[in-house]
Amino acid sequence: MNKFDVQKIRSDFPIFSDKSLIYLDSAATTQKPKQVIDAVSNFYSNSNANVHRGIYDLSMKATEAYHSARQKVADFINVPDWRSIIFTGGTTESINLVAYSWARKNLKNGDEILITEMEHHSNIVPWQLVAEESGIILNYIPINTNGTLDLNNLDKLITNKTKLVSVIHQSNVFGTINPIKEIIDHAKKVGALTFIDAAQSIPHSHVDVQDLDCDFLAFSGHKMLGPTGIGVFYGKTELLNTMAPFMGGGDMINSVTMTKSTWNDIPYKFEAGTPNIAQAIGLGAAIDYINEIGLTNIHDYVKHLLNIALEKLRTIDGLTIYGHQVGESSSVISFNLEEVHPHDLAQFLDQDGIAVRAGHHCAQPIMDKLGVSSTIRASFYLYNTEEEIDKLCASLKKTANFFRE
Ligand SMILES: Cc1ncc(COP(=O)(O)O)c(C=O)c1O
Repeated sequence: MNKFDVQKIRSDFPIFSDKSLIYLDSAATTQKPKQVIDAVSNFYSNSNANVHRGIYDLSMKATEAYHSARQKVADFINVPDWRSIIFTGGTTESINLVAYSWARKNLKNGDEILITEMEHHSNIVPWQLVAEESGIILNYIPINTNGTLDLNNLDKLITNKTKLVSVIHQSNVFGTINPIKEIIDHAKKVGALTFIDAAQSIPHSHVDVQDLDCDFLAFSGHKMLGPTGIGVFYGKTELLNTMAPFMGGGDMINSVTMTKSTWNDIPYKFEAGTPNIAQAIGLGAAIDYINEIGLTNIHDYVKHLLNIALEKLRTIDGLTIYGHQVGESSSVISFNLEEVHPHDLAQFLDQDGIAVRAGHHCAQPIMDKLGVSSTIRASFYLYNTEEEIDKLCASLKKTANFFRE
């Protein structure tokens, strides 16, 4: 992997000036390069003003910068019309937006939504809330214990009653990359809408909404080098135009009288109040950064790290890896070490400067299926190194020995 200069990349991330830090929790949130931090800080230092409101120069500049970030997001996922890109607080808010603005208005008792047992809680709970209120039925595509979706009965699960199919693209627990195109094609046959949770796939794979032809898609800026507090909701313009607003307030209206209000055009109809301007600009800078390095290079490097990590972890006695046996996978490895509770293990790793996640990873149905309460999760991104994987393995072996003595 000599084209990929990981040390040069690391020098862009101020947090890695702490040489003892081994950060293996990018699936939770990524670290930020100085280009992103500077973009946010420059905005506040030099161009801060509210958007869409002022006719003075500074406000117009802020509006332009905010719009330019939206255009970068549109280009990044190959969206032809920037009006399809709604800025939200993150994937969670984007999913709730569809639950409120589309599902609650359009679905009735007996209609069905299909998700999978592999979902993050943010793609389960909003639909459960809709189901409680409207009597819709929530169905699940089952998972196999090897971390893949069981698509054998897709024809029976997607029926004329199915109105929405909402699926995670890449699992935040197993790293499995799901065959979403196949699922989308099935959904289309019955006229169901499709929603893709791309929170984990977007940071290191080309996601092309025109190619996928999904109706909705969501992701979070903070998992792709951007700031927290900014997320993306993509919807086809014809659908967004028919949907009711999510939240009411400033900017999302066309006119307000004491008795009635009318709505602004998309995307503004879905962006009530002062948006997260600096965060959107930071996300734009993150996209520039990723484009500069090249998404394919990032993908290949992360895959390379994943393969090395899998090979080395598999040699550790008593270590069980969940998933990564069949099909495509990337960037995330969940595992447990015999006789060591995941929380204890995470603490021992932390003593060696290694940051991993321990818990249910907001995916309790997966834990139930695996018959465990929690796992350790190591996740990789463009700034991780092979040496860090060696240190992870050494620390794991040391901890295993300590507990077995
Ligand atoms: C697959 C997946 N979906 C949704 C989310 C929720 O993202 P956020 O907390 O940024 O809204 C996460 C976060 O871990 C995730 O991994």
